[in-house]
Amino acid sequence: MTESSSALNPKEQPRIIIDCDPGVDDAMAIITAARWADLVGITSVAGNVPLEHTTANACRIRDLLGLDIEVHAGAERPLTGAQEFATEVHGETGLGNLVLPEPTRGPDSKDAVSWLLETTKHEEGLHLVPIGPLTNIALALRADPSMISRVASITLMGGAALGIGNVTAAAEFNVYADPEAADEVFRSGAPLTMLGLNLTHQVRMGSVHGRECATYGTPVGDAMAELLEFYSVFHLAEEETEDGPVHDPCAVLAVTHPHLFRFSARPVYVEVEAIHTRGMTVVDERGPRAEGPLNCNVAYGAESETLVDLVMQAVREA
Ligand code: RIB
Ligand code: CA
Repeated sequence: MTESSSALNPKEQPRIIIDCDPGVDDAMAIITAARWADLVGITSVAGNVPLEHTTANACRIRDLLGLDIEVHAGAERPLTGAQEFATEVHGETGLGNLVLPEPTRGPDSKDAVSWLLETTKHEEGLHLVPIGPLTNIALALRADPSMISRVASITLMGGAALGIGNVTAAAEFNVYADPEAADEVFRSGAPLTMLGLNLTHQVRMGSVHGRECATYGTPVGDAMAELLEFYSVFHLAEEETEDGPVHDPCAVLAVTHPHLFRFSARPVYVEVEAIHTRGMTVVDERGPRAEGPLNCNVAYGAESETLVDLVMQAVREA
């Protein structure tokens, strides 16, 4: 079933800021946000690939979509600890085999944190949608903890319930790449919603979708076809499946189409000091016996087919 475009007319679209590390699925998330959200701006962070690439990719995707928004570069490394990249998943420069023209203009500043604070002060009720390591968000909260009361939500792709990991047996990449930042965000008291691997693994796209995108005969359709082909080859090698979880668009759609998800409030902690579980999000699922504040809305279920249809509609209508 494809949601009609009346489901979210422009006046109703939630206003969001995406903080990202493009990144194949980050690119898909920005395409999805351009259609279903009122995208206020983009901040970049080092993650899948170094900051110079994530920032340039965000600017390239801004051009591809013809967006009149700002891009601000943020942290080039985690708060502490070793730096992790995911070039094996996203390619050396972050967009797989997709080659987009050089950006017509670079980032509007190299101070994403100041822009995040100014923008959320100037306009209350924005949704922050982090889909990379949480370094920028943690630094913004250190500079002004009261930001938590000015945002409508921090709806992030990261972590996992049910102990699922991807970068290690226990940890998801965005949290593992900067566990200290994630720990500060999860303890901040912010209105958190977590789209973890337990959810995003239910929402999958691959070469079948890529072949359909290629029939649209548009620059966005061609770009998405290239991204999905690269993703499909990776997951075929990794998991022997033709499709792969499209993690980051889930965070955008959780803001624009929350009725398509099932959430439960849970205490969530980030493991920082550990050998085997550093970067794990520990979700207390013991119900009435759970300990600690219900600090996070955790996504457990989704109408996956409809979500994929919404991503495809965003590509088709770009
Ligand atoms: O674990 C998946 C997450 O890590 C996604 O955001 C992907 O882009 C990578 O950043
Ligand atoms: Ca990402």
